[in-house]
Amino acid sequence: MDLESALQRIEELRNLITYHNYRYYQLDDPEISDAEYDALMRELEELERLYADRIDLAGSPTQTVGAEPLRKFETRPHLTPMLSLSNCFTEDDIRDFVKRVKSALGATEKIFFVLEPKLDGVAVNMIYEGGRFKWGLTRGDGFIGEDVSRNILTIRSIPREISVYDRPVEIRGEVFMTIQSFKELNRRQAQENKPIFANPRNAAAGSLRQLDPAVTAQRPLEINCYYIAGINGPGFDSQWEILNTLKKWGFPVNPNIIRTDNVDKCIRFYYELEAMRKDLPYEIDGMVIKVDSRLQQERLGTVSRSPRWATACKFPPAQATTVIESIEVHVGRTGVLTPVAIMKPVRIGGVTVSRATLHNQDEIDRKDIRIGDTVIVQRAGDVIPQVVKSIPSKRKGTERPFRMPEHCPSCGSRVYRNKDEAFYRCLNMACPAQVKERIVHFVSRPAMDIDGVGEKLIERLLEKGLIHDPADLYYLTREDLLSIERMGEKSAYNILRAIEASKETTLSRFIYALGIRHVGENTAKILAGLVEDVRELERFTVEDLQKVKDIGPVVAESVVSFFAEPSNRDVIERLMATGVRPRKESVETGEENAPSLEGKTFVFTGTLSGLTRTEAAALVESRGGSVSKSLAKSTDYLVVGSNPGSKLEKARQQGTTILSEKDFMAIIRGKKE
Ligand code: IVH
Repeated sequence: MDLESALQRIEELRNLITYHNYRYYQLDDPEISDAEYDALMRELEELERLYADRIDLAGSPTQTVGAEPLRKFETRPHLTPMLSLSNCFTEDDIRDFVKRVKSALGATEKIFFVLEPKLDGVAVNMIYEGGRFKWGLTRGDGFIGEDVSRNILTIRSIPREISVYDRPVEIRGEVFMTIQSFKELNRRQAQENKPIFANPRNAAAGSLRQLDPAVTAQRPLEINCYYIAGINGPGFDSQWEILNTLKKWGFPVNPNIIRTDNVDKCIRFYYELEAMRKDLPYEIDGMVIKVDSRLQQERLGTVSRSPRWATACKFPPAQATTVIESIEVHVGRTGVLTPVAIMKPVRIGGVTVSRATLHNQDEIDRKDIRIGDTVIVQRAGDVIPQVVKSIPSKRKGTERPFRMPEHCPSCGSRVYRNKDEAFYRCLNMACPAQVKERIVHFVSRPAMDIDGVGEKLIERLLEKGLIHDPADLYYLTREDLLSIERMGEKSAYNILRAIEASKETTLSRFIYALGIRHVGENTAKILAGLVEDVRELERFTVEDLQKVKDIGPVVAESVVSFFAEPSNRDVIERLMATGVRPRKESVETGEENAPSLEGKTFVFTGTLSGLTRTEAAALVESRGGSVSKSLAKSTDYLVVGSNPGSKLEKARQQGTTILSEKDFMAIIRGKKE
């Protein structure tokens, strides 16, 4: 490579890596696999080394960690910088690392290594002062992190207090989500029409960086800790001692950690972890090898962004080469159209794979994937197989580019693409691919609130062809219901009554029930304020709606495209025809909707996870209730957080109503009394 093209490539790589840092660290939405990222980084490091005398390293992504923190959260400095790890990829790389360490420390020295799984989550730093949890920070740029303290505290296993009083300490660890929790979360997200996370790491990162800790509290995050840092050094002799101290202090530490002085054992453990990987309940993407002795660590020191005494040995992603035979379009439960590659079956990491998601049209264009292409496919942990790239040199000329269809493959309606999304969506309420979720939403409590019609019954009714869209519910007869297995006269009667009763509803509930994307309960109220009859909304343009306070372009576009869909207008007409009469309510705000807590006294015990005591008290008082410090006979509610005190027992004895934090929030929001 001549000098000019090398410099050009360096520039290009720096821009690319900065962009991918931004996608990974700030948007939690990486576009390329870790392996692809590592390859870019290695290429840049190599070029910067070769042309070291011709370039300036300052500002290069090889010199920094991650990306600058977003302005969303308050930021705060780490007491000691959070470094990153260099990577290695093969058995030989591990031997080289050990050799380098040995030659730097001297051939005769005894060196122990600690081997830990590299958890695939989000690095956090928890600062304790006077033995109390003070701050929880994300890594940010390595020097300054985002203050996500309240979110981190939703992780129950983190001790609020530790028995070190004399000096501040920093506990470092990895926040992660188990594969099971990740799947459950995605199921819930899909049901609620919310975005799906690509993998457990993104789900953990996205959950940790929620602005509302109450949302984080609903996401089951976990942590494994691996390091104690301190301003004057951690005050421990070895990594092994640090791990034991962490356990003693009550922090979760990964159980699969060993200490050895033998390089062959390091390599054996690397393969053992790789073999264990598919059975672990969480994702790991490699092994971290660390020199155990702190003294030796200090002697080895740090180069630019990573210590010389540790490295991350990444697992190779399981990859294989195959041919794309066709591209099918799958319509998800929320109406998203996803192109799926149908491939010649191939074995990857012990599993036969014949389908892989191509995500969306942009992704296909970016990777230039064509039907008939030979491609590299990859499986990483539990995630759906992905097409990494096509191999254009294998093209024969018969390959065909792919275009997303203009009509939904499930129902034939036109598909829409919102400005804010990379996806095409089918907006048809009656689309068979989505109808179950749509009806479940339609009957739900905050929507039409039809008691007795649950997911199971909806499934049966759909299977029997008794309903095809939400309006069909109102045309059900007693005989229809009795044809369902195990349905008795009484239940059928109750269901018909509940359906009938739901006809009397408010305009905002009705609009919410339609399941228009981006239209939650609040936006539904705003829209209801604009019209007398829901059908008037059909006449609004994007410009009209954008003029309304609190309605932005994304919502406006979504509402307009919903009403542009003829099948949706048809469902609304048929609902009206059966006598559904959404009445216009007086303009309601969230506040007026909330219940009065006039005359009610609340007492709190233990630590709340989603909000502070002061915030909780403010909520009670804003609704006319009062908060007291001590429990009395006259206390109406005791709200119990984690580690509750003696008040809980007393309340039990005297029969005070006991509320969990969740019950409490439900009362505040007016969902339960
Ligand atoms: S040690 C200087 N140990 O991997 C030491 N890191 O690029 C730095 N990670 O930012 C970290 N498991 O997010 C360490 N057992 C482990 C780890 C681990 C996962 C993550 C961590 C770090 C990144 C390294």
